[in-house]
Amino acid sequence: MTCKAMVTLSQAQIDAFHKNGFMWLDSITCPAEVEHLLKAYDQLFTLQAGREKGDHFDLAGPDEDGTEASLPQILKPRAYAPEFQNTIFETNALAIATQLLGPAATFREDHAILKPAHHGAPTPWHQDEAYWDPNFEYASVSFWMPLQAATIENGCMEFIPQESDMAVLPHRSIGGDPRVHGLETTCKIDTSKAVACPIPAGGVTIHKSRTLHYAGPNKSGMPRRAYILSFSTPQLHRDCGIKKFAWNEEGHTRREERANSSQTTEN
Ligand code: NI
Repeated sequence: MTCKAMVTLSQAQIDAFHKNGFMWLDSITCPAEVEHLLKAYDQLFTLQAGREKGDHFDLAGPDEDGTEASLPQILKPRAYAPEFQNTIFETNALAIATQLLGPAATFREDHAILKPAHHGAPTPWHQDEAYWDPNFEYASVSFWMPLQAATIENGCMEFIPQESDMAVLPHRSIGGDPRVHGLETTCKIDTSKAVACPIPAGGVTIHKSRTLHYAGPNKSGMPRRAYILSFSTPQLHRDCGIKKFAWNEEGHTRREERANSSQTTEN
């Protein structure tokens, strides 16, 4: 890969990010890298990479084997395809994360969310931290990069600008179905405040772990592919008196079953 797309945020962009909880850029990598990743991305979903370990699953449906997923997701694409390792996207994202979180920012995780053509399900309003262990304090940012233009028609990201430091709001499994891995907040969201972020292929939206976000259904004739990297500073322990958020205690997903049985087999 000969291209480089170095990105440095201005102080005004950094200040606006901390005020609003999100931002977007039209480019975080170059077209050649997007094309390179796109081929590897489609291959991973065709193969359902990581399914037996619980890393491939339907984020918005009951995830039955042999049924078509409405919102397929793959955790840790970097573990399954070398194309996702050492990308220009990651180099630039880490540089930006360091500007936003300070020099202690390091890579946290990567994942891929595919909205199939015509029927990719919406990703309901949620905060990422609702999935995490409540016994830690997090400073974390996620970089959501589409591998084709992200539009309102195919399900680009939408955000609610944060007015103050928000708590983690109550959530539940999507549709109230504990078989579904994905979460949605049960609070009424004032969507008149939502900011939709259509961006080109290789652009990026960046958000904090408590920023409310949503992506609509894919009504277009092409798949909507997004690849996400997140970065954090070291987590600070805080004993909150519960082991897990209630909505994560209630969930019983096929994904979890596959992950547990693959761990048992490996041990
Ligand atoms: Ni999210």
